[in-house]
Amino acid sequence: MPLHHALPRLLRDPMAALVDFGNRYSGEIVRLNLGTLRPYLVTHPDHLVQILRDTNSYIRDGESLLWRPIRRAVGDAILVTEGALWESSRETLQPLFTAKRVETLVDRMAGAIGEAVDAFDEPARTGEPVDVAALMSQIVCRATTRVLFGRKISVEDALQINVGLETITTTMIPRLLAPRVPYNIRMPGDRAFHDAVRRIDEVILPIIRKARREPDDGDDIIAALCRPRQDGTDPGEAQIRGDVVAMFSTATETTIAVLSWLWPVLEAHPEVAARLYAEVDRVVGSGPVDRASLAELRYSRMVLDELLRLWPAGWMIPRTAVREQVLGGVRLEAGATILVSPYVTQRMEAFWERPEAFDPERFSPDRPKRQYRYSYFPFGGGPHQCIGQYLFLLEAPIIMATLLSRFRFRLGKAADLRPRLGASLKPRANQLTLVPRDRSPIP
Ligand code: HEM
Repeated sequence: MPLHHALPRLLRDPMAALVDFGNRYSGEIVRLNLGTLRPYLVTHPDHLVQILRDTNSYIRDGESLLWRPIRRAVGDAILVTEGALWESSRETLQPLFTAKRVETLVDRMAGAIGEAVDAFDEPARTGEPVDVAALMSQIVCRATTRVLFGRKISVEDALQINVGLETITTTMIPRLLAPRVPYNIRMPGDRAFHDAVRRIDEVILPIIRKARREPDDGDDIIAALCRPRQDGTDPGEAQIRGDVVAMFSTATETTIAVLSWLWPVLEAHPEVAARLYAEVDRVVGSGPVDRASLAELRYSRMVLDELLRLWPAGWMIPRTAVREQVLGGVRLEAGATILVSPYVTQRMEAFWERPEAFDPERFSPDRPKRQYRYSYFPFGGGPHQCIGQYLFLLEAPIIMATLLSRFRFRLGKAADLRPRLGASLKPRANQLTLVPRDRSPIP
């Protein structure tokens, strides 16, 4: 894809441009000429499976693309690294996220979510609009601090960290667009980025220092990360801090981002909204949501799967070829940058019918199985597959059902389904009016 085609389109609307390049070559590997950077866009599920499973040949290079600004914020944390450092963090955290353990968190999670949602009774009564991001942050921060961080981070501190993370994910965009510019050259957003990192550290470091001084045998993320690693070594404060911030940020940012799409989708698709409300009314009634009701929220799960198809929070998970490789008949040189994007593959005509349409029926259990496992991979795949997948798939339906069983929702303006570019994909800012369910004229 020559420079004069690729660059203007990417600068104008990067997400749409990448989908268009993927569609135009129908899953063939496309090399994009962007001047000094010439990445390969890999979209075919047969190629993706090879890349994501082979972490010896295709790595997350902390000095390239998206990983560079993330690494700048969290250091060599689980989310960014490879090799021994990654293995040690993954081994430490994995036991906290097994399906069996996460199942035991459901009631605690539902309690925390219910309490957070109580705070919105007042704006629902008065008709005062609420900010979508604020609504979702309140709920997700409360649930996350309680079930994953054993209340070692207070909800107020969590919200402050969240504001910092929001700044980090937006101020890293200039660095994403100009990945070769060295850090000693100042760029727009740098100062706000550093201020946000500092503010997060002011909250997190005292908590980590206390946990290291007074170790406990808790099963929360901070206690686990502060213990000596399996080989008896002390990971050190910098590594712990990076992993804590990375875990907090992925646990909150991704969940907030995906669920923020629910409101514009309900506004734009009244038929989906009606079915969803009917299911929640039937299964949950006037609440609360519990473990038994989760299994019955089948349509809600289909809606969630479709939200994850169109707006996967981890929309770009680039890799670097360690050595020369041949993939799909194409020679990739050592050091080649490879663009892997759930967002792009999940919107391609070669793998999805009417890919741009929001249609939860695609995920109906009655539909035949998809031809390719990797035509849908919102949680990645291979050894780096998302550690929080089970947690998210329990937490998100609880949040949806709690909110929908208590309120009806109206957006302040027409739904805008175009994502805002950032580390995760969010809708443009929006206000939401909540109407108590029992006072709503909407059926
Ligand atoms: C909608 C929700 C989520 C989405 C779409 C998502 C997506 C992803 C993706 C695509 C990856 C793969 C990265 C790669 O291959 O380089 C990943 C990894 C990861 N996710 Fe998630 N994630 C979500 C929720 C969560 C939650 C709730 C947590 C934690 C509680 C979490 C923690 C992680 C961690 C630690 C990794 C790195 C795993 C590793 O490299 O070993 N994620 N996630």
